[in-house]
Amino acid sequence: MATSAPNPYANIGFEDFRRLAQQPGLSKYERIGFPDSYREGFEAEIFRDILGKLPRLNEDRQVILDVGPGCSDLPVMLIEHCAARGHELHLVDSAEMLGHLPDRAGTHKHAGLFPNCPDLVAAQQGRVNVLLCYSVLHYVLVDAAFFRFLDTALSLLAPGGEFLIGDIPNISKRKRFFASETGVRFHQEFMKTAERPEVRFNQIEPDQIDDAVVMALLQRARAQGFDAYVVPQSRALPMANRREDILIVRP
Ligand SMILES: C[S@@+](CC[C@H](N)C(=O)[O-])C[C@H]1O[C@@H](n2cnc3c(N)ncnc32)[C@H](O)[C@@H]1O
Repeated sequence: MATSAPNPYANIGFEDFRRLAQQPGLSKYERIGFPDSYREGFEAEIFRDILGKLPRLNEDRQVILDVGPGCSDLPVMLIEHCAARGHELHLVDSAEMLGHLPDRAGTHKHAGLFPNCPDLVAAQQGRVNVLLCYSVLHYVLVDAAFFRFLDTALSLLAPGGEFLIGDIPNISKRKRFFASETGVRFHQEFMKTAERPEVRFNQIEPDQIDDAVVMALLQRARAQGFDAYVVPQSRALPMANRREDILIVRP
C-alpha cells in the first residue's frame, strides 16, 4: 500500500514526461512518474480492475483508444490483450514514450497530446468502443483545455462505447481518508509515527482535482447524453484509499 508521503513526481506535465521517457537510468515506473513502490507488482491487479470496468475489452474486434499509455507493463498487457482479440488499438502519447512500447499488428501509435491531435480525432469520430485514460487526468487538468478534453473524448465514442477515466487523485477523497480514524491509523502504521497526518481544509488547491472537478465531469457528460458514474478502485490497488475512477458510457 502506498504511503501518505507526497509523490516526488507530482506536479509534472506532458513535456516532463517526454524528458523522463528519454532520461537514462530510470525504471519503467519512474519514466511514467511513479516511484517503483507505487507500481511494481501491482500492474496485473490494475489491469484486472480495468478489464472488470470495461467489458467491451473482452469482446472481439473492437476499436480501442488509450490516451497516455506511458511505457510500463500496463500498456504492454493492453497491447497483448488487444492483439489476441483482433482489436484495433490506438495509442496517443509523446513519440518518446510510445518508442518504448512494442510494435504489434493492429496497434497504431499517434504521437501527440490529446485532444490536440486533429487527424486522430477526425478519423475516430463515433468509432471508439473503449476509451481508456488511466492516471492521466491530473496532467490534462494542467496541460490541456480540460472540458475540450472531455467533449472531444465523448465525440469519439461509438454507441455503447465505454470510457474509463481511471486513477484520479481526488484531493477531497484524500482529505476524507486522512481525516478519518482509519486514515489516521493507516498513516501512523505506515510512517511508524504517533503523529496524525496533516489535513487542511478551506484553502486554495492549485492544479488539484477535487470533488467539484469530478462532479463537473459527471454532470457535463450526463448533460451531453452519456451515462456517467464514479466507481471505486479495487481495494487491492496501491492508491485505492485516495484515488477513484469515472466510467462514462454512451447509451
Ligand atoms: C502517469 S503516466 C500513466 C501511464 C499509463 N496510463 C499508466 O497508468 O501506466 C501519464 C502518461 O500520460 C501521458 N500524457 C499526459 N497528458 C497527456 C495528454 N494530454 N495526451 C496524451 N498523453 C498524455 C504522459 O506522457 C504519460 O506517458
